[in-house]
Amino acid sequence: MCGIVGYIGEQNALPILIDGLKRLEYRGYDSAGVAVIAEGETWVEKSAGRLSELEARIAGHPAAGRVGIGHTRWATHGRPSDMNAHPHTDASGRFAVVHNGIIENYAQLREELQRQGHVFRSETDTEVIPHLIAAHYAGDIVEAVRRVVPLLRGAFALAVVCQQEPEKIVAVKAASPLVIGLGEGETLLASDIPALLPYTRQVIVMEEGWLAVLTREGVSISTVEGKPVLPRITHVDWDPGQAERGGYAHFMLKEIHEQPRAMRDTLSGRLDPAGGRVLLHEVGLTPDEVKALSKVAIVACGTAANAGLVGKYLIERLAQIPVEWDLASEYRYREPMIDERTLFVAVSQSGETADTLAAMREARSRGARILAVTNVVGSTVAREADWVLYTWAGPEIAVASTKAYTTQLVALTLLAIWLGQHNGRIDPAEARALVDALRRLPDQADRVLALEEAVKAAGEELARHNDAFFIGRNLDYAVAMEGQLKLKEISYIHAEAYAAGELKHGTLALITDGVPVVALNTQPDLVEKTISNIQETRARGAFVLGLAQEGDEETPRYCDRIFYLPRTHRYLMPALAVLPLQLLAYYAATARGTDVDKPRNLAKSVTVE
Ligand code: F6R
Repeated sequence: MCGIVGYIGEQNALPILIDGLKRLEYRGYDSAGVAVIAEGETWVEKSAGRLSELEARIAGHPAAGRVGIGHTRWATHGRPSDMNAHPHTDASGRFAVVHNGIIENYAQLREELQRQGHVFRSETDTEVIPHLIAAHYAGDIVEAVRRVVPLLRGAFALAVVCQQEPEKIVAVKAASPLVIGLGEGETLLASDIPALLPYTRQVIVMEEGWLAVLTREGVSISTVEGKPVLPRITHVDWDPGQAERGGYAHFMLKEIHEQPRAMRDTLSGRLDPAGGRVLLHEVGLTPDEVKALSKVAIVACGTAANAGLVGKYLIERLAQIPVEWDLASEYRYREPMIDERTLFVAVSQSGETADTLAAMREARSRGARILAVTNVVGSTVAREADWVLYTWAGPEIAVASTKAYTTQLVALTLLAIWLGQHNGRIDPAEARALVDALRRLPDQADRVLALEEAVKAAGEELARHNDAFFIGRNLDYAVAMEGQLKLKEISYIHAEAYAAGELKHGTLALITDGVPVVALNTQPDLVEKTISNIQETRARGAFVLGLAQEGDEETPRYCDRIFYLPRTHRYLMPALAVLPLQLLAYYAATARGTDVDKPRNLAKSVTVE
């Protein structure tokens, strides 16, 4: 997830591009760059680090051009560096491109271009685009872009400027967001509305497969194939802060709604299109090395640890490798028995959590090989690991983790299937069923998020209580752990997660009239057993909020409220079941008036032990 901007008009483009990038910094901030066409030349400046670094570089020699594009980066392919920062150009420097998204087939395109003599300077997927445009350019930049787009596979929003045709910017939307702003004698583009608001309130939200040609006078839009499109112009009356949150009241709510997209991005390029297999080229273990593993250790903190617990169940079931699961802050104290036959999996959104790093270094000192599951390219966890499996959630701003958790679940599920394929322990039919179910998962997540209004009402009721309990068995227990953490951290309601069968060993004493119990019952073979535990709480007066799979007619009979989840493979239920729990916590917190995005006493990145 990156941010792109473009400007063409009567004003000096550079300050407008920088201002737009500042408003998009929430989309990524590990490097930034701009390209401006000034005095017939394409002038490019870029820099690793925050936008302020780029500004400092530009200050010495600003270019005065009236057309340009800019980019703020959230690294995907290639570490954050000057060279990998956008815009990227072809060898002649005539074509400059900014890109938000992932070009899945870039390796193959790059090889073909290299065979034709193209020389690449960066490690990015994006750089293939200006080279392809240069190869297809025959005097018309719009035509060249039309020819290149069908060659690209993946998700992208692009903006292209061409030195020979400085009176236009060409932009394309394929899956990644793109909006056009219509000003007086100027036209702008951006990944998101906040970057446009100081200049115009008239916007066009680009749709799938549209190509826009921006000029000073306005924009003409067609499909990539050339069919004209009559877009709808929308008047936006959001304030800038609201706009940065995409119109949502809080970043947390925005991030909850980004989860289908984040899941899609995390799956992108990792499911074999021929079906039935998971591809994790980034994990360098050979099949023999996977067969030789004696155990996997999953270590993390907080929400990431909750995701890791799901990972433990899945790796044990699908790859039949024993998995130890630990909280990173406790790991070193038990002197873990691991060696070079252990695969140590560190799960961390930020990649900077001190406890996770300390555990990882302990594992390294004992000879384990290390796989990082992280969301931040170039983070310390990523740098110190042998291999990195990135979760493509995009920057998570709200302190309470949501989209990082669900993408961690997706990544760990992929890992479990991949390990099972490599050691031959997974039943191929089961792998195929899971791969098919993973493909459907983002759309199903969209359907679950449509429960929002009903969950809101439940959250507002919950806000009146001081305690809540979350129960479930097996994978439902792991999700209950995450549900209670979300509720506690943002609503300040005391909550506990219990393995449903464990309640009667002590905690049942706390269940009295009206105490809310959130009961997860999504695992088909455990429905009856969990119902018995629900009944135990109901008999003591609990108010039960149930989560069950569509078609389960039994569970609702024992609940005061029920939320149905679409049917999927049982191992994928956690990624759907957590969504109403996130919304429940969110609406309980807003009903209580807490500072949802920045809950008291907490920080987004915990770099102390
Ligand atoms: C809770 C939350 C934290 C983090 C934990 C680990 O919503 O976000 O519990 O999960 O601090 O952080 P990372 O994943 O960055 O290592």
